[in-house]
Amino acid sequence: MSELPVIDRETFSRYAGLSLPRHVAYPMPTWWHDVDASQAAQLRALSLNATSPRDLSLYLHLPFCEHMCLFCGCNRTIVRKDGRSGPGRVKRYLDAIIEEMRLRSQDIGLLNGKRRAVRQIHWGGGTPTYLDCDQIRKVHGATARLFDIASDAEVSIEVDPRVTSLEQLRVLHEVGFNRVSMGVQDFDPVVQENIGRIQPFEMVKRCVEDARAAGFPSINFDLIYGLPQQTIESVERMIEKTIELMPDRIAFYHYAAIPDRIANQRGLDQSALPDSDAKLTMLLEASVRFAEAGYEFVGLDHFALPDERLAQAMRTGQINRTFQGMTTGSELDLFGFGCSSISILPRTMYLQNEHDVNAYTEKMESGIDPATRGKALTEDDAVRQAALMQLYCRAKIDPDRLHNETGVDFQSYFASECRRIKRLIDDGLVERTGNEGIQLTHPLGRVLMRNVAAVFDGYLHEEAPWTGMKQTFSASA
Ligand SMILES: C[S@@+](CC[C@H](N)C(=O)[O-])C[C@H]1O[C@@H](n2cnc3c(N)ncnc32)[C@H](O)[C@@H]1O
Ligand code: SF4
Repeated sequence: MSELPVIDRETFSRYAGLSLPRHVAYPMPTWWHDVDASQAAQLRALSLNATSPRDLSLYLHLPFCEHMCLFCGCNRTIVRKDGRSGPGRVKRYLDAIIEEMRLRSQDIGLLNGKRRAVRQIHWGGGTPTYLDCDQIRKVHGATARLFDIASDAEVSIEVDPRVTSLEQLRVLHEVGFNRVSMGVQDFDPVVQENIGRIQPFEMVKRCVEDARAAGFPSINFDLIYGLPQQTIESVERMIEKTIELMPDRIAFYHYAAIPDRIANQRGLDQSALPDSDAKLTMLLEASVRFAEAGYEFVGLDHFALPDERLAQAMRTGQINRTFQGMTTGSELDLFGFGCSSISILPRTMYLQNEHDVNAYTEKMESGIDPATRGKALTEDDAVRQAALMQLYCRAKIDPDRLHNETGVDFQSYFASECRRIKRLIDDGLVERTGNEGIQLTHPLGRVLMRNVAAVFDGYLHEEAPWTGMKQTFSASA
């Protein structure tokens, strides 16, 4: 085991494990409301009112998977390729998502007579490489016809090594994808058996080699710690094997266990979950070992090699936090297409599509707007969102930056929060900076980032940072 940073485990155990939001959105989806077609159109139009229009980011949700993984918390639907209804359902869904892009592209692709460049595209799922080569060409071809994709855009896709071929990777690269994100989760055969996802090291290695051979400059691994049957030793082996393959980015996710809401997770042995002290050691071990191997810590649960776009974005302050984790493109208007996808106009609004894949397809076929939930941000929401984004992406709140983004003075606007945060300063999670801002301590404040963020969440009660919240959150939160 590497030399781990010293951490006050008594303080950690007092704060860890409380039920608190992870702020992949602010306000969290619990606080969004149902929208009808005219409200949805008004929310989208906010992107057109901006005095300094932003460039675009597009997210396409492709929900199909061949098999169910027991830990999975994503919005996915299992469609057997050899099943009778499968191909028809997939075709109808792809036609629907293309139609949604066609409908929106007229408005959002054009502003004041000028085309808005698409700087980022992400295909998430489900498993986007469930699609065959013709389907990949069809969907991306439609996107390229409907929008102006910048020549240096980051175009990325989530791939499952178990179902991704060299041929698919070649086609993806040929049509313009330049980043693949692989679902790896863990290399340990016992853990894999338990989570219902058999994926030997050699299979992942082959997928990495195929992606490199196809020309991909950037490969990400999704890893999960905190899964049932994982031990500190097994996670150390997972880290070693990851370093052997040297992906350009690593997402080291904490297992989100919500078996009361996610039926498939009930198939996992809850009594075999590692405890919070063991999980802390796993996280610290990963941060030390990945740093030794040359990775930069990009905030929360992401690591990247120094030349990779995400590490570069961190150095220039352009990191973003969305439902896809830490991403580049902090000042882009994000439009989501497909079931459950979310559109985000920074400091302005959220809008989410119908969750269910069949209902989404039927709505699109009937000419009904598929948006179901949304929220226009109040001025206070926008200020707090900007402050929380800094905290999660930069591990600090810089008053000058906050003033530039929102026009408020940190000390006076957050006078009550600054008083309450004293308790977290006394406990060693936070320290004040020279210019009257705050920063998270390393490592205690960083691993307890959600507790600090809870101070600035205007929808939580004042005691939430040290007692947890009382209300429950929706699964999409
Ligand atoms: C859409 S999947 C990635 C692509 C593909 N479906 C696959 O599994 O290889 C997105 C990622 O979410 C993460 N994930 C899913 N359920 C999770 C959970 N309950 N807790 C933490 N991470 C989870 C996994 O790491 C997974 O790779
Ligand atoms: S983890 Fe990936 S492959 Fe497994 S069910 Fe979820 S979306 Fe599908």
